[in-house]
Amino acid sequence: MTETSCCAGLCRTCKVRYLQGAVEHNDCIMSDEEKTVLTACVSRAPGKLLVLDL
Ligand code: FES
Repeated sequence: MTETSCCAGLCRTCKVRYLQGAVEHNDCIMSDEEKTVLTACVSRAPGKLLVLDL
């Protein structure tokens, strides 16, 4: 594991803002206030739609 690409929801390198849809935030470091973004390496979309702000 490197500090810049952990693939474990720790470093936030892969964070991306999302615009619509539900998210399972499987990281263990972001507070509820920070969860306007998701960590793509571990977060999942439980529904059929998740719109990312790329
Ligand atoms: S790669 Fe580290 S949080 Fe996703």
